[in-house]
Formats: sequence, structure tokens, C-alpha cells
Amino acid sequence: MAKSSIFILLALAVCFFSFFVSTHGNDLKNRFVVHGTVYCDTCNVQFVTKISEPMAGAKVKLQCVDFANDKNITLSKEATTDEKGSYSIEVDGDHAEEDCQVTLISSSRDDCTKLDGDKHLNQAAKVSITNDNGLIHSPDRLANALGFMKDQPLAECAEVLKDLSLNPDGTEIEDNS
Ligand SMILES: *[C@@H]1O[C@H](CO)[C@@H](O)[C@H](O)[C@H]1NC(C)=O
Repeated sequence: MAKSSIFILLALAVCFFSFFVSTHGNDLKNRFVVHGTVYCDTCNVQFVTKISEPMAGAKVKLQCVDFANDKNITLSKEATTDEKGSYSIEVDGDHAEEDCQVTLISSSRDDCTKLDGDKHLNQAAKVSITNDNGLIHSPDRLANALGFMKDQPLAECAEVLKDLSLNPDGTEIEDNS
């Protein structure tokens, strides 16, 4: 009699333990962290150059909308960049059926606030917040860097861009040789 109760207790303990492990494992699987940076685009070209400046205190927003209905906002979370211009946003749950992207909300520098009309549309960093593709097993999701522009590009930009074979406006230099 005593032996069988011990056996039952043990069996229960094993059950409970494996239940705990499996649910806990699921939690971990469906937790993500979106990372990214915000910079001052000192050359107004909308990509990072060697004279771009990380921006601390900038505000960004991560938002997900349903694939089938973009009015159905399923996630909306704001974050502020740290002294390195980086932010991290924790996300719970798999967002496989949704389009998720990070956009700029506000600059922390009076001299670097511009969001150019057309280019602004491309200034959203798309992120995939799901494990469904089975390829990425890490919880980390990296969003492209986002930049605010200055009213006027810095004087050094012409030189910096020339080194990259680009015109001052960021377009490629035509090779007419
Ligand atoms: C909104 O989108 C989520 C995720 O795709 C979906 O589960 C939910 O049913 C949608 N809600 C409405 C009201 O359409």
C-alpha cells in the first residue's frame, strides 16, 4: 500500500514537471525582442554612412497589422533609444499572420528632424515576428536602422559619398569610360 502511494506520487511529480517544462518552453518560443538603431542621417541619403550619428532619446513605434485587414492593429509598442541610439522592444506571441514594422516617431535633436515625403514611406523597417518559417530560432529580430535627416547635409558628405562611388544625392556615379 505504502509503496504504491509513493509510486503514484512520483508519477504525479513527473507529470507535473514535464507539463511545466513544456509550457515554459512554449513561452520562450513565442517571446521575441526587436532590436534596431536610430541615427541622424547627416548626408540626407537615407542610409548609414561613416559620418552618420547615432541618436539617443529618439522615439520609435513597432506596429503590427493583420495581413487581411490593415485597420486591425494587433500590436503597437513604443520605445526610446539609449545613448548608443539603440532600442529593444519585447514582443509576446507569434505574429505570423501580420505585417510588423518599426517607424520613427520623434527626433531628439532640433537640427535633425526631417522625414522626407517620398522617402519616408521607405523609412519603415519591416520585421518578421514569427518562428513559423522554421529558420530563425533566436528570439532576436533585427530591424533596419532608421534615420532622421538634417536641413542641409554636412560639407564632408560630398567626399564621403565619392568614396562610395556615389553622387552627393546618394545616386550612383555613372561610369562613362
Ligand atoms: C485581427 O488580426 C488577428 C491576427 O491576424 C486575428 O486573429 C483577429 O481575428 C483579427 N480581428 C479582427 C476583428 O479582424
